[in-house]
Amino acid sequence: MPAQNLDWKNLSFQYLPTDGYVGCDFADGKWGPLQVKQDPHIPMHIAANCLHYGQAIFEGLKAFTTKDGRVVLFRPDRNADRLANSARRLAMEAPPLELFLEACRKAVAHNRSFVPPYGTGASMYLRPLVIGTEPTIGIKPSSTYSFIVMVTPVGPYYKDGFKPVDALVMEEYDRAAPKGTGQAKMAGNYAASLLPGLEAKKKGYPIVLFSDPKENKYVDEFGTSNFLGITAAGEYKTPDSPSILQSITNESLQVLAADMGLRVVRAPIALDALEQFAEVGACGTAAVITPVYSVTRGARKLTFGRPDQAGETLTRLYKALQGIQYGEIPDTHGWLAPV
Ligand code: PLP
Ligand code: COI
Repeated sequence: MPAQNLDWKNLSFQYLPTDGYVGCDFADGKWGPLQVKQDPHIPMHIAANCLHYGQAIFEGLKAFTTKDGRVVLFRPDRNADRLANSARRLAMEAPPLELFLEACRKAVAHNRSFVPPYGTGASMYLRPLVIGTEPTIGIKPSSTYSFIVMVTPVGPYYKDGFKPVDALVMEEYDRAAPKGTGQAKMAGNYAASLLPGLEAKKKGYPIVLFSDPKENKYVDEFGTSNFLGITAAGEYKTPDSPSILQSITNESLQVLAADMGLRVVRAPIALDALEQFAEVGACGTAAVITPVYSVTRGARKLTFGRPDQAGETLTRLYKALQGIQYGEIPDTHGWLAPV
């Protein structure tokens, strides 16, 4: 569909075709030139490592049209850094910072008409990925890789946007192992979360809260986002765990929370201690901040605030973050990168 026919205000979080993507390949120990490509299908060897042994990592970041009409990326350098960490954990190659940034800028610039206009509440989602492409049957890292940055315009991840959702603690399944790959943004972690996600949805819960895989005693994170809780004493608490993804949204919110005078605490959070929170939220690029109204664990359901409306502190944080992203509030931390 041409961009001018899109209903910007009612986009959901799903793939929509655009004018193309940007990609480049790694072979003989070096990255080749970036290319803009139209055909969204890629030819691949049937024995490619990513298909059999899971050398597949990705990132998620957004581009926004600001109030004064600029197109900006939110903290893309942090995504480049995390992609490099994921690559290290999976013995893969990652594009160097400048190549990553150039690919993101190019992918957005090439699809300029698909960047949602200011005031629609929508944004452009960038999905950089790296896959091992060498045919491998014996287990070993691929020696060739493809780096792709695809983009698509998106609305809210949960259909009601900034409205509270109900979460279910899934102790029957772990999404990552104690010394495993939870800190890497790799495809396999998401494959492991699909069945628990389906089972939770069937029971009426749109979002799964995973506990720590070692003892099932502490909060780890949601399937697609980090956990944050606000106490009545003015604390912003978020789990310190080796098996969760280091969320760039969470990192940014911690800075904004401190700016607002909240005390930021990064420490293990016991599932038995959730009563301490006046507000609970799920945070991430796609989720932004999604308020969590309830957390159900077995027969016990705890609630936080009101079912129909986010709490006061999460609302302030949400407005502060989105205000910066849409250029409504000065970007005092230097988080916006021009395209
Ligand atoms: N945790 C998981 C499992 C995620 O998939 C995401 C999304 O990227 C996050 C947390 C949030 O990370 P970020 O804020 O960098 O998007
Ligand atoms: C993101 O928020 O960028 C994610 O990757 C979460 C989800 C869409 C997988």
